[in-house]
Amino acid sequence: MKKILSLFALLLIIAAGACSKKKTSDNISDEIAFKKADELLAKMTLAEKIGQMTQIDSSVVNFTDITEYGIGSVLSGGDAMPSDIHAKGWAEYCDRVQSMALKTRLAIPIIYGIDSLHGSNKTMNAVIFPHHIGLGASNNPVLVEKIARITAFESRASGFRWAFSPCVAVPLDERWGRTYEGFSEDGSITAALGAAEVRGLQDSFETNGIAACAKHFIGDGGTQHGIDQGDCLMSEKEIREKFLPAYEEAVKNGVLTVMASYSSIKGEKMHGNRYWLTDVLKKELKFKGFIISDFDALKQLGGTSKQTVEKGINAGIDMVMVPYDYKTFITNLTELVEEKKVSEERINDAVRRILYVKYKAGLFDSPYSDKDAALKVGSAEHRAVAREAVRESLVVLKNDNFFPLKKDLKKIVLCGDRASDIGSQCGGWTIDWQGSTGKVTQGTDIVTAFKNAVSKNTEVVYSKDGSGLDGADKIIVVLGETPYAEYKGDRTELTLSPSDEDLFENIKKSGKDFAVIFISGRPIPVTEVISKSKAFVAVWLPGTEADGIADVLFGDHKPKGKLPFTWPASMKDIPINKGDGKKALFDCGYGLSW
Ligand code: BGC
Ligand code: BGC
Repeated sequence: MKKILSLFALLLIIAAGACSKKKTSDNISDEIAFKKADELLAKMTLAEKIGQMTQIDSSVVNFTDITEYGIGSVLSGGDAMPSDIHAKGWAEYCDRVQSMALKTRLAIPIIYGIDSLHGSNKTMNAVIFPHHIGLGASNNPVLVEKIARITAFESRASGFRWAFSPCVAVPLDERWGRTYEGFSEDGSITAALGAAEVRGLQDSFETNGIAACAKHFIGDGGTQHGIDQGDCLMSEKEIREKFLPAYEEAVKNGVLTVMASYSSIKGEKMHGNRYWLTDVLKKELKFKGFIISDFDALKQLGGTSKQTVEKGINAGIDMVMVPYDYKTFITNLTELVEEKKVSEERINDAVRRILYVKYKAGLFDSPYSDKDAALKVGSAEHRAVAREAVRESLVVLKNDNFFPLKKDLKKIVLCGDRASDIGSQCGGWTIDWQGSTGKVTQGTDIVTAFKNAVSKNTEVVYSKDGSGLDGADKIIVVLGETPYAEYKGDRTELTLSPSDEDLFENIKKSGKDFAVIFISGRPIPVTEVISKSKAFVAVWLPGTEADGIADVLFGDHKPKGKLPFTWPASMKDIPINKGDGKKALFDCGYGLSW
């Protein structure tokens, strides 16, 4: 009997334990979130509502104004950051912002937004994953979801609760400087991977998740000549076929926010486009979350600043990334409501959506950062996933018996400054807005990755200018692009940089065989380089974990990546895309193995 009783007690303990461990992926239901939002909305004044619709940049944050105006959101745009940008420093900063929001009458938490596009990329020493273009080459939704969960963890550990990601653009012109922010020119790959990222970012809001943001709605990848913030001349039918599916998938997977695009459709700026924002996205697609405007984008709508606010809000923008002159924005919107140029109904709809997102994202329950989490940012476990992603993203375009390399060769020479440059590997949106060369954060560069991979008798030599090739068993040249981001990365010509051109000349003059590792945010028509090399491997913008490159090139893993974009033979073929009848150097979907 005693035995039976103790067995019973044991079972009870197990059952109790199982109950107390709530399944973390159970986010609160939409029904409950909206119910709470409605209850709160009913208590709010117009000023409080307009405060919620205001997002300001941290570079102009005045802490007491957060309380005074009941600001709904703060972002740290491109280059805005506090003095300490390690996870702990960011978290302390964001918590301080939050504490000011919680001092308001209704204690509505702020939602802190940031461009965590490939990891928590504004946190020093966080793990940096390959940019989307590389993940497009992997075409592995399970992996993308796993990456997004880590991105959410490291972002949230830094105090951020909202990533302006995934960019689900379908870039159709390589001249566009944001090509790498897209997964692929293939809309079905983009839709699947974008949805996977949404699921990963928004998983387990109680402990890990952060709100995602599908962007930039809609047509950003289809502008004429690939000009950033430009004009898309496609018909509605084409826009729906090419660009809408990624948003449909994101919405189906519960994406909480969508960012409007700076670009236009046939001359009409998206931020003022009620048809696409309200009729299509909110009504037809049944998007429940809120629409955020892009950085200072209302300004581009034309007219006085008050008129731009009227146009944007009436088109369907719910929260405005003001981002600087928030007092004028608040005055403008208040007057517009008083003058009945913006209806109270529109304001209520916007704020209801914002509060719904804040409830869903768990901000009311846990508004502050988790101090212990900061310690795990950039952990070996997280880096291992990034290394796996690098392996999967490599695309081998050519290989005349050059790879895989043996680990016991006597001497391998790696040429070019990009071979030893974390900054180039990471590309734009890494610490700084435009990214930069140099040791921007902790990580493993290609030279170090090679050293990690070889036997102890192998010499790995780094040669910046391509000299000192004598006695080398293998020569590998690292070429590519220098970091850039939106609009500064737009190009009319896509070629090697002058320094890479010199390097390539030096190597050619040596008359020796060589392979190329190519770091870039898009396909570049370097046809001569490809034809002169024995092997050519596109590694895109792999991020901090170059060991993943060595894993493949030394044969521990087979290459599996496939081109997410058509690779053009020459500049005059751009734009070039799957199915347009043009002759490519390599088709979208191409990629060798061994
Ligand atoms: C970009 C967005 C970004 C925002 C905030 C804008 O310039 O277009 O993609 O999320 O800035 O930094
Ligand atoms: C960027 C911002 C950046 C600003 C600088 C925007 O387009 O996305 O985040 O700080 O430009 O002008």
